[in-house]
Amino acid sequence: MTAGIDLGQPQAQSVRSDEDVVRVRQLVRAVAVASKLSLVDQTKLVTAASELARNTLVYGGGGSVEVTVVDNGRRKGVQIVFADSGPGIADLDLAMTDGYTSGGGLGLGLSGSRRLVDEFQIETSAETGTRITVTKWSR
Ligand SMILES: Nc1ncnc2c1ncn2[C@@H]1O[C@H](COP(=O)(O)OP(=O)(O)OP(=O)(O)O)[C@@H](O)[C@H]1O
Ligand SMILES: [Mg+2]
Repeated sequence: MTAGIDLGQPQAQSVRSDEDVVRVRQLVRAVAVASKLSLVDQTKLVTAASELARNTLVYGGGGSVEVTVVDNGRRKGVQIVFADSGPGIADLDLAMTDGYTSGGGLGLGLSGSRRLVDEFQIETSAETGTRITVTKWSR
């Protein structure tokens, strides 16, 4: 399914269902393999992507994921943007705290994801929703 992936282009996946979260995992795995991330780093990135895509679905009311191969001149990496038009995260510090959940989760998705990637950026507001950008670099 992902055999014909064009790594020169951002790969987009909408997130409207559990099946879409699985598709995000598969897409991120394929791009991470093609970008020559180590097996450990592939797994870390897929795990982070799975958590963030699930948040996009559950709290953001659905949205989109875009996966891009990036190159900073020294290293290649994989960058993933998770975007939704949901209610935003009112208290970001609280939401990033280990164990905080507004639902019935473990409250480890955001904080755990941040530890699994090299770069982690959140833009969120009630007006524009939530946009999270993560990057994992090959080493
Ligand atoms: N895209 C989002 N839009 C709005 N709120 C969000 C979004 N992502 C996370 N949140 C808020 O941040 C809280 C913490 O998210 P986190 O993923 O860490 O935990 P969780 O989803 O509640 O539980 P877990 O991921 O461990 O099952 C959520 O409970 C929710 O209130
Ligand atoms: Mg979560």
